Amino acid sequence: MLVTLEGIDGSGKSTLHDALGTALADLDPVITREPGSTWIGDAVRRAIREQADPVAEALLFVADHAAHLSEVIRPALAKEKLVISDRYIDSRFVYQQVTLEGIVPDPLSWLRAVHAGWTIYPDLTILLTVPVSIALERTGKRDKEEHFEQEAVLTRVQDYYMQLVEEEPYRFLIIDGTLSPEDITRVAGETIRFRNEQAKKSKNKRK
Ligand code: TMP
Repeated sequence: MLVTLEGIDGSGKSTLHDALGTALADLDPVITREPGSTWIGDAVRRAIREQADPVAEALLFVADHAAHLSEVIRPALAKEKLVISDRYIDSRFVYQQVTLEGIVPDPLSWLRAVHAGWTIYPDLTILLTVPVSIALERTGKRDKEEHFEQEAVLTRVQDYYMQLVEEEPYRFLIIDGTLSPEDITRVAGETIRFRNEQAKKSKNKRK
C-alpha cells in the first residue's frame, strides 16, 4: 500500500513522517520522500536554491519522481510492502500549479499530462492543514526561506490541496496540523493500520 503525506511547508508533515517510522515499526514500512530519494534530488535542491527556470524546476521534480518510482516505490510495492512517502505527486499538482501560472496555459492539466500513464497514484494521502500564519512562524525559525515559503504562495498551495480533496475525497485524510504531534501521529498511524489491514483482506479474497 502506498501512503503519502502532504501539506504546506511548516504543516508538521516531516515531524509526522519521522514519528510514523517509529509508531509503525512493527509493519516494517519503507519510509521515503520527494524530493531527495534519488541522485536527481540533488539537482532539484540546486534548482530550488538557485531559483531555476520554473519549467526546468518542475521537470526536475518530475524526473526525481520517475527515478523514485523505479528505484524505491515499485520494488517495494512488488514485495507488498507498506510505503510511506513524505511528499509525492500532489506536491507537484499544488506547488507547480502556482509556479507555472502564466507560463503554461493550464498548469494542472499540463502536470497531469506529464505524469499520465507511468506514475502510481497513492492509496491514501494524509494532508496536514494549518493556518498559513502558523506555518510561516514555524518555517521562519529555519535558517533560510525557500521561494515556496512565502505567504501568498503557501496560501494558494493550501487552497489547491483542498481542491484536490474535493475531487477525490476518499483518497484523503485531513488532519489539523495544530494538534499535538502525539495526536497527529496516533490518528495517522491508526488510519494507516486500518487501511493496510483492509487492503490485505481484499487481496486475500481475490486470491
Ligand atoms: P520539503 O520541504 O518537503 O523537503 O520540500 C522542498 C520544497 O519543494 C517544498 O517547499 C515543496 C517543494 N516541492 C515542490 O514544489 N514540488 C514537488 O513536486 C515537491 C516534491 C516538493
